[in-house]
Amino acid sequence: MFDLAVSDAEPAAARERHGDIRGVLVPHFTGRKMQRLADRVAAMVDEQIDVVLAAGPQADLHNDFSLPLSFRILCDLVGVPDPDGFLALLLSAGEVDAEHTAAAALDELYAYLRELARRKRSTPGDDLASTLCEVIRDDADVSGLLALASFSFLVTPSNLSAGLALLAGHPGQRDRVRADPRLLDTAVEEVLRVGRVAETCVPRYAAEDIAVADVVIRAGDLVLCDHYSTGFDDLVFTDPECFDVGRRPNPHPAFSYGMSHCIGAPLARVELRAAYAALLKRMPDLRLTVPFTEIPMLGTELGDQVGGSIARLPMTW
Ligand code: HEM
Repeated sequence: MFDLAVSDAEPAAARERHGDIRGVLVPHFTGRKMQRLADRVAAMVDEQIDVVLAAGPQADLHNDFSLPLSFRILCDLVGVPDPDGFLALLLSAGEVDAEHTAAAALDELYAYLRELARRKRSTPGDDLASTLCEVIRDDADVSGLLALASFSFLVTPSNLSAGLALLAGHPGQRDRVRADPRLLDTAVEEVLRVGRVAETCVPRYAAEDIAVADVVIRAGDLVLCDHYSTGFDDLVFTDPECFDVGRRPNPHPAFSYGMSHCIGAPLARVELRAAYAALLKRMPDLRLTVPFTEIPMLGTELGDQVGGSIARLPMTW
């Protein structure tokens, strides 16, 4: 049906393949479908907060909240039976500093997902893996799509943590949302605009000559698009450096645009909203125990990770 293995395809063939991939995945992530998951997500959020509160009154909310919660949600969606094992596999396959380890771990991840597909064919469930098996014959294609969705999902815990840091680092804004939960939706959009969590310069090649102000980008030129920097364009955003939970309109490009628009955006929004709603209610005085600028980040010293940036988020409540 489509060849996920083609990596050096001509632009037209690559676009066609990309369209095929989106055609299969997009219907599983519609806003309406993800809204139906909202109650399940809210229950998982509450359970994870119970765990953190029981161990409190201080915690590393990235590793003790954002990561485990996001992976439970991912595993629930995909139909993975053992979140801990899958998390370990995905994280080692996503290590960007250890080429050899990552190649071996990638093979292991694909083997795991092929085996998952094989099992879903004999015992289907109400999950993404089973639904993909209904429309795709080849287990390798199913595992490729599941790996794409899972890797893409990896940015969610970092975004979630970035929002926690931003809300805790701006107590006035945090208290605005707490006092008026109707601001949750705009607060999530502002977190997505401001919360730079990883390098996001994705390469694109211009399909035709394009004029931007007084610069002409020629057809075939390589363009590096940085989604986050464009969220600070003062021609579009008033006072862009200011973190404003009520900002409206907020046409940030955190989920990219057009044919690259993030397929999981509705799910990410549901998760972030549920997490901030519950945390602000159950830990109203959530605050950082280190200065905002000293939050430990991933990088050369701590090793790097696809989609990741925050290493630890020390907080108290
Ligand atoms: C806050 C969390 C997230 C952010 C900020 C984010 C951001 C992005 C961005 C910027 C892209 C486009 C990359 C490019 O231009 O090539 C993208 C693509 C994608 N995202 Fe997300 N994402 C998030 C969460 C998720 C989740 C939860 C899923 C669900 C599985 C997901 C699935 C995908 C997929 C499958 C693509 C590839 C789309 C394509 O190539 O057509 N993302 N995401």
